[in-house]
Amino acid sequence: MSRTRTALLAALALVAGTAGAAVAATPPDVGAAAVPCTVEYKVQNQWDTGFTTAVTVTNNSAAKSSWAVKWSYAGNQKVTSGWNAKLSQSGTAVTAANESYNGPLGAGSSVSFGFNGTYSGTNALPTAFTLDGVTCNVDDGGTDPTDPTDPTDPGTGSRVDNPYAGAKVYVNPEWKAKAAAETGGSRIANQPTGVWLDRIAAINGVNGGMGLRDHLDAALTQKGSDELVVQLVIYNLPGRDCAALASNGELGPTEIDKYKTDYIDPIAAILADTKYAGLRIVTTVEIDSLPNLVTNVTPRATATANCDTMKANGNYVKGVGYALNKLGDAPNVYNYVDAGHHGWLGWDDNFAPSAALFKEAASAEGATVADVHGFIVNTANYSATKEAYFTVDDSVNGASVRTSKWIDWNRYVDEQSYAQAMRAQLVSIGFPSGIGMLIDTSRNGWGGTARPTAAGPSTSVDTYVDGGRYDRRIHLGNWCNQSGAGLGERPQAAPATGIDAYVWMKPPGESDGSSTAIDNDEGKGFDRMCDPTYTGNPRNNNNMSGALANAPLSGHWFSAQFQALMKNAYPAL
Ligand code: BGC
Repeated sequence: MSRTRTALLAALALVAGTAGAAVAATPPDVGAAAVPCTVEYKVQNQWDTGFTTAVTVTNNSAAKSSWAVKWSYAGNQKVTSGWNAKLSQSGTAVTAANESYNGPLGAGSSVSFGFNGTYSGTNALPTAFTLDGVTCNVDDGGTDPTDPTDPTDPGTGSRVDNPYAGAKVYVNPEWKAKAAAETGGSRIANQPTGVWLDRIAAINGVNGGMGLRDHLDAALTQKGSDELVVQLVIYNLPGRDCAALASNGELGPTEIDKYKTDYIDPIAAILADTKYAGLRIVTTVEIDSLPNLVTNVTPRATATANCDTMKANGNYVKGVGYALNKLGDAPNVYNYVDAGHHGWLGWDDNFAPSAALFKEAASAEGATVADVHGFIVNTANYSATKEAYFTVDDSVNGASVRTSKWIDWNRYVDEQSYAQAMRAQLVSIGFPSGIGMLIDTSRNGWGGTARPTAAGPSTSVDTYVDGGRYDRRIHLGNWCNQSGAGLGERPQAAPATGIDAYVWMKPPGESDGSSTAIDNDEGKGFDRMCDPTYTGNPRNNNNMSGALANAPLSGHWFSAQFQALMKNAYPAL
């Protein structure tokens, strides 16, 4: 296929300056045959002051052992950081040269790289590219409806900086029905909650329940002519939940191929259906997996054999990379990777290594950091969004509160400060500077009669912190059906700098795990952290579990917990 330069420029005029715009370069009057190279330049994401671009170069001439692609900007764009190429800029001229590991470029082969940049005004697309000094051409001119990178395709260019801004969020009718059936539940039954794809069968619906297409169809109805976000939880890695037992899954540690072909591929195919192109689909990718590879592996005292196995076989990293790559192919999918919570990764030993591991996973199996729209913290956990009566910088009688038993040298005391700092850390190591954070506030309200109304007494760091903290857990490491917890902030868009939304990703009322052993065919084990009589393990520093009694299997409806969450809601219902 060929097209004239005039037609290409017309197309550029339509798309220039919009996120997701793509351009391929062409000189005048060329035909389809014997083009020496093709460069596709696709703006994947764009915000007020910056953008992320993916570039794919195809070499149609003789094999090369190294390569350099060049272009110039018409505006004030500045490349700030890149990946899979060495990027340099002089004035408006940019050069992208191969890294040591991707120099060879065979005849007919392609190589991709990406970068973040800044701009002001209009982010006009470059109009000409060279590969080793030779001008590159266009192969399809951007009108091929089967090519998702074409600027004319529906959906392409629709990724916005914050998908929650100006959008409604999908209310899961199945959760809504359970909530509404509870006394007082109608007060929150219309809140949006996450749809957990927690096993392969969930794609088509478990026991006659709604499958993924059913949810997306219902979402289209809820959407009407507004914008609407659908929140999915991707949760089925091989060897899932390696440091605990309550949410072990159906796939064994080595079943990465099944994860790809029977789980991720079918989900990606459904999400790519153009019928759903108008939905903003948020995926939260694999809760609790990567953080476990940092904190619960040898030589730490908290190590488990299963986490050592998953670290050694690489299947968490591969699975997350594969999921990001495949799910991110749909231009209306927004991938958010799980980033634990402050009471897990907020220590110096865990913080930077976790960010580095997230980057490793986001660079595995064909994924790039541009496939990541942001990160989610506190998923299904109980850490307070903001503590009001102490900060990590406080001292009592000359002693830093970091020496208190509760804080125990952590750098953060709540989720919002942790999320903002983790965001900065991730950008500093090469994630796009437009990434945003989500905070799961479904169960971190800590209202009710036990909620402090003033700072604790300044007798010691412990009385000060324990008296003033909203989070009433026995220990920060407690995670199962916490007694005293309440609903947190209601879901809302853009509540703070760097935070895309407060969300209820864990549906309130769904158990974290059974308090006694219960036979099941879901792969779930019995974790004594869900047993209120349990005296703990190294991961909660041998404290009582703080769990509610009589809990059903994880994911199953737990009416008593739902009632307690409403009673202890903060803000109150
Ligand atoms: C369970 C899942 C469930 C999810 C949401 C997890 O702890 O393992 O089966 O879908 O919670 O409630």
